[in-house]
Amino acid sequence: MNLDFSQIVPYIPFILEGIWATLKFVSVSILMGFILGTLLSLCKITKAPLLKWLADAYTSIFRGTPLILQLMIIYYAVPQLTGYDISAFLSAVLAFGLNSAAYISEIIRGGILAVDKGQTEAAEALGVPYKPMMLNIILPQAFKNILPAMMNEFITLTKESALVSTIGYLDIMRRAQVVGSNLYRNFEPLLFAGLIYWVMVYILTSVGRLVERRLRQSD
Ligand code: ARG
Repeated sequence: MNLDFSQIVPYIPFILEGIWATLKFVSVSILMGFILGTLLSLCKITKAPLLKWLADAYTSIFRGTPLILQLMIIYYAVPQLTGYDISAFLSAVLAFGLNSAAYISEIIRGGILAVDKGQTEAAEALGVPYKPMMLNIILPQAFKNILPAMMNEFITLTKESALVSTIGYLDIMRRAQVVGSNLYRNFEPLLFAGLIYWVMVYILTSVGRLVERRLRQSD
């Protein structure tokens, strides 16, 4: 055993900057996933067969292939088609956002189906049109039900975010690797990166618990 944590001390600020780099694209991705996921979930519960088919196909493709493959297609393969390079940040946001939308659409679909049928029936009996019914009656109740599952998705994305180190995006993981090859010691920087991820997930889990408790109180 020859661990020497003092050697990574000068590199700590460099690795810590990765937290911002990671959180930046994860939050944009989850926002994108949420908006797209909501639209997809609405397509899944409509009676229009084409929309339903498209939304189901979308989910099937993005859940049925590895996220790292989607990331590489966007970063390496798309420029071959378009002739334009795409930045690592934009690739990361797109891959994670598109991927997450597939998972989030299922979460929201479940949330909508869990809202009592009587709510839709009452709205329809009162002559409330589809759009205000969804926006003001059904979706607010569905979003409340799905908050814990959304927190879970946020945690998953935070951990999966380490995949972007493979396209050279300087996130926590990539920075730990860079420090490792500078020092010819990998254990210490990797362990430090692990600690950062763990603390981030711990904080997200605590926030999730707090939100859940608040929701239960308001019930
Ligand atoms: N490791 C999984 C994959 O490669 C992660 C999928 C992302 N999960 C998520 N809930 N967005 O497909």
